[in-house]
Amino acid sequence: MRILKWLGIVFGGLFLLLIVFITFIYISSNSKLNAVESEEKFPVEIKTDSLSLAAGEHLAITRGCTDCHGPQLAGGIIMDNPAMGTIVAPNLTEGKGGIGGKLTTELWERAIRQGIGFDGRPLLIMPSDDYYYMTKNDLSNLLSYIKSVPPVDNELPELSPGPVMRMLLTFGEVETMPARIRQLKHKRQEEFVEGVNPGFGRYLSTNCISCHRQDMSGGKIKGGDPSWPPAANLTPHMEQGLGGWQKADFVKALREGKSTNGRELHPAMPRTFGYFTDEEIEALWLYLRSIPAIESEKE
Ligand code: HEC
Ligand code: HEC
Repeated sequence: MRILKWLGIVFGGLFLLLIVFITFIYISSNSKLNAVESEEKFPVEIKTDSLSLAAGEHLAITRGCTDCHGPQLAGGIIMDNPAMGTIVAPNLTEGKGGIGGKLTTELWERAIRQGIGFDGRPLLIMPSDDYYYMTKNDLSNLLSYIKSVPPVDNELPELSPGPVMRMLLTFGEVETMPARIRQLKHKRQEEFVEGVNPGFGRYLSTNCISCHRQDMSGGKIKGGDPSWPPAANLTPHMEQGLGGWQKADFVKALREGKSTNGRELHPAMPRTFGYFTDEEIEALWLYLRSIPAIESEKE
């Protein structure tokens, strides 16, 4: 009977510790999910001419909006499992269950470029640390397009992070978008000429930061699915990077999702960049040639 009593105390103690741990994870992750202050406010001009709408559609496709929020922008469930939780990309249209009608242009800007949701809560999944760099003009074209798409009724569950996601948040393995944006070193760049030049390429390369890092040296993707391979080194480094690559190799990687040896790239590398124009891919290539060769960080 003594043994049983001791076992009871030990298990009771362990159980209590577990409860304390779980409570800690929930309180700590909740504090990171609380509403945050917005950096700035500015209105975005909405246009209706066909050139702006076409430019906006091109942005919605290449920047991945239609990849996660669906071809009609009606949203969808990105991930649903007990560990990571239910991750939902909201319906962006003005149909039933859509947030399109609720958002002012200022709230749209805040969600896209600052990673803050309409209710003030920090976003977790959508790569606003890349979109932080979107110019006012691109943002204006993008929103003009989004507001022009037909409303679709699609009611979705709320996003709710599961215990593993909360643990990753608590220990800093996953960071909220506003936290990631605060760590960005480069300033927003509004002055460049669109065309085949490294300045435009630099602007487009901001779409690669969330995975390939700001210096393009690649490495483990913070906040990514743990099963993903590291992001490739895109600097001209001879052994690790694209030092030995030709422009055609780069075009093939983006358009066909294949590396130089014909290997199919992991789906973590978005295929949406395959819709960049020839001009955009060439500008990106020129930029990636112009930056210093940097070794990837060892893990
Ligand atoms: C990798 C997938 C992904 C991509 C790419 C993406 N989103 Fe999202 N988006 C999400 C998810 C998931 C949410 C839910 C909030 C979160 O991330 O925690 C969201 C939330 C939003 C919200 C709502 C914020 C709120 O008020 O709650 C807006 C607006 C939005 N996305 C617009 C866009 C636009 C515009 C683009 C393209 C520039 C885009 N998204 C690209 C996944 C994505
Ligand atoms: C969501 C994460 C993510 C984003 C965003 C992303 N990449 Fe990648 N990329 C990856 C991963 C992961 C790999 C490695 C894939 C593999 O090894 O199979 C990769 C591989 C590549 C490769 C192949 C390199 C090689 O050695 O074969 C190129 C080229 C590339 N990315 C270019 C880009 C460019 C340019 C951008 C921005 C316009 C970009 N990527 C944005 C995740 C990403």
